[in-house]
Amino acid sequence: MSAHKIPLAGVIGYPVAHSKSPRMHGHWLKKYGLEGHYVPLEVKPENLETVLRTLPKAGFVGANVTVPHKEAALEIADVTTDRATLIGAANTLIFREDGKIHADNTDGYGFFENLRRGAPDWDPASGPAVVLGAGGASRAIITSLLSAGVPEILLTNRTRIRADALKQEFGARITVIDWVQAGNVLEDAALVVNTTSLGMVGSPELRLPLDGLSAKTVVTDIVYTPLKTRLLQVAEEAGCHVVDGIGMLIYQGIPGFERWFGQRPEVDEEIRRIMLA
Ligand code: ATR
Repeated sequence: MSAHKIPLAGVIGYPVAHSKSPRMHGHWLKKYGLEGHYVPLEVKPENLETVLRTLPKAGFVGANVTVPHKEAALEIADVTTDRATLIGAANTLIFREDGKIHADNTDGYGFFENLRRGAPDWDPASGPAVVLGAGGASRAIITSLLSAGVPEILLTNRTRIRADALKQEFGARITVIDWVQAGNVLEDAALVVNTTSLGMVGSPELRLPLDGLSAKTVVTDIVYTPLKTRLLQVAEEAGCHVVDGIGMLIYQGIPGFERWFGQRPEVDEEIRRIMLA
């Protein structure tokens, strides 16, 4: 007879000290009175596979993976969801009873849930989305926007070839715009998303000319330090509906928490406050 086991989960990164996930999952475990623990796991890239194969033997039911392990985790996994495959990276792992590692990517889901709830009147089909940036976050966001039925994505990145590569991969609904031209397409946008690190504390400011923004556009930013970035500030002044980025981080954590600990957590002001503290 196997003894009663307390489920363990954690976030694997290198470094990992900055991660807010332990705080979030710890809060939910306490709030719902669940048995379980969620810990930060600092793992060097060369040890990732060994650690992933070992954790289930130590009582872990799953893990989040963050920088720089997201692509490697997808490679190592035995089973992958379609969205993780499309994005080309994993952020949520489930260690199955049969020993297989199941990899999902909930970043696009987290982005989209935050946007949908923050801007309930925004209709994905209503018009083009301008996406700033072509890195890992952008891949997840583009995937979620395309699957939600956004008719066209105007994609712009400082390094144009990265945007071209995403067009190659994601196809006809993507139009690549030169970084210096980005200000000129804002007017037509139903949605503007910043997926770059620009505007984050410690990073340069997003220097895009924003005077083309009109009040009909929904504007969102994945940067959440500060919560109200210059992009969101200027957009708000232009009368746009704005959605801040902290919710993306919260919503991306929900599918994992539910699978590991058996309870779907609610997103409320309290968790937003805790994550921003
Ligand atoms: P992530 O996985 O968080 O998206 P990433 O893959 O390093 O991280 O992507 C960072 C994004 O921010 C990229 O679009 C990057 O543009 P480049 O592809 O040209 O590097 C963008 N970015 C970062 N610093 C930037 C800067 N100073 N000016 C313009 N874009 C910047």
